[in-house]
Amino acid sequence: MSAVVDPHGHSADAPVHRKPELAGYVARFSGQKSLMEAARKTRDAGFKRFDCYVPYPIHGLDHAMGMKPTRLPFIVLGCAVVGLLTAVLLQWFTNAFDYKYIISGKPYMSIPSSMPVNFELAVLFSAFGALFGMLALNQLPKFYNRLFLLDPFQKVTTNGFFLGIEAADPKFHSQDTKAFLENLKPLELTPCMEPHADARLPRVIAPIAVLLLVVGLIPLVLAARMRAMPSNVPRIELIHDMDFQPKLKTQRFSSMFADGRGMRPVIAGTLARGDLRADAAFYEGLIPDQADGVDRALLLPNAKNPDGTTVQLDQMPWVSEIPLPVDAALMERGRERYNIYCSVCHGLTGKGDGLVTLRAMELQRGSPGIGTWINPISLSADPIRQQRVGQLFNSITHGVRKMPAYGSQIPESDRWAIVLYVRALQRAGSGTLEDVPEELKAGLTAAE
Ligand code: HEC
Repeated sequence: MSAVVDPHGHSADAPVHRKPELAGYVARFSGQKSLMEAARKTRDAGFKRFDCYVPYPIHGLDHAMGMKPTRLPFIVLGCAVVGLLTAVLLQWFTNAFDYKYIISGKPYMSIPSSMPVNFELAVLFSAFGALFGMLALNQLPKFYNRLFLLDPFQKVTTNGFFLGIEAADPKFHSQDTKAFLENLKPLELTPCMEPHADARLPRVIAPIAVLLLVVGLIPLVLAARMRAMPSNVPRIELIHDMDFQPKLKTQRFSSMFADGRGMRPVIAGTLARGDLRADAAFYEGLIPDQADGVDRALLLPNAKNPDGTTVQLDQMPWVSEIPLPVDAALMERGRERYNIYCSVCHGLTGKGDGLVTLRAMELQRGSPGIGTWINPISLSADPIRQQRVGQLFNSITHGVRKMPAYGSQIPESDRWAIVLYVRALQRAGSGTLEDVPEELKAGLTAAE
């Protein structure tokens, strides 16, 4: 029944340096039924390293061969756990250990907020586990399969039903196993030889590989050299349009204009929309008729007259009326804006006891000499009360001596609202006995 086929029939002239060794037997069966039967018997005989090769999947063949369920799920589970632990460790190390940083008020390490990364890494690791675990369990990739060298085995994709027992099986014995397989009545029985084809590579391959390696490294070496060495030549731009977009940037050259300037100078006699500030009373607190004669540079803090003397700000032509309709809404707006912008230094009542001031005084205590803090004067003090509203407005716009400017943060109408509220604070902070209603005067006690 069995026909022994020379496994080297088609590669006889290949140089063989070691004697071929028996790697196993391959038996061909007539069909699905006889193969199943053979598989069952082989399993019962106690063989472990054997396999069936068939042209299409056969239900129950794995059972007949005694194959255990795949271990892949456990590998995937293990990888998922490793991924999860990696994610937790990574987040703990970066957020809670190496570089503690509070992000949107969350704790350094918290399970709910770390969940997305935990999930992602667990999934990623299990996907890798599934792919590489499957490859490893199947012993893939395989560079060659010695079975492919057998002529009869070519039928495996059409109508061949094969069962092969490997020589590596502990129960394998060259004679006994052969007899066992012959007993199963196969169509043919083929010894499968390990050909041990020339294990050495052809001589030319090594130098060619080295050459290719060196050539392959040249671009990297060139790139590294270019990065490290200074050069007068412009850099090579691979993606030019992203680095040099045709938009205009501040202080940059532009080829679009004849003078090459990216930033355009203001055209004489024109104004940008919304830049017209004709109303000196509203925008500067100056009496419009006299505003033209005022050197605006003198309105800035610590400005000096041309002769070096301090500017007498009180002498400026300030308006004495708020150039807006004064009503409860403006007062309310002023109270709100004052509390936001001014109270930190001047205090809620304008007495000069804001938190910044108190803290600054506390810091100066005990270390005289380093203090440069100037306490703001009470807004109800006589010199400030006597100022016209225009000057108060100017103090907010440009700042005054040590006080910073708030013009860029507070729009004009809000500045006027604050001025109105400062006036109210001044009135409240400088009351006299006459201000107390008659009926309440009786309840007052004299304080010294
Ligand atoms: C960062 C703290 C700080 C803030 C905020 C602040 N000021 Fe002042 N302010 C001062 C100091 C300090 C002085 C005294 C400056 C000096 O004498 O050198 C002062 C002085 C003044 C004066 C007196 C000016 C003068 O002619 O002597 C007025 C009026 C005034 N501030 C109003 C305001 C108003 C209104 C706001 C809110 C828009 C405000 N300040 C916000 C610190 C502040």
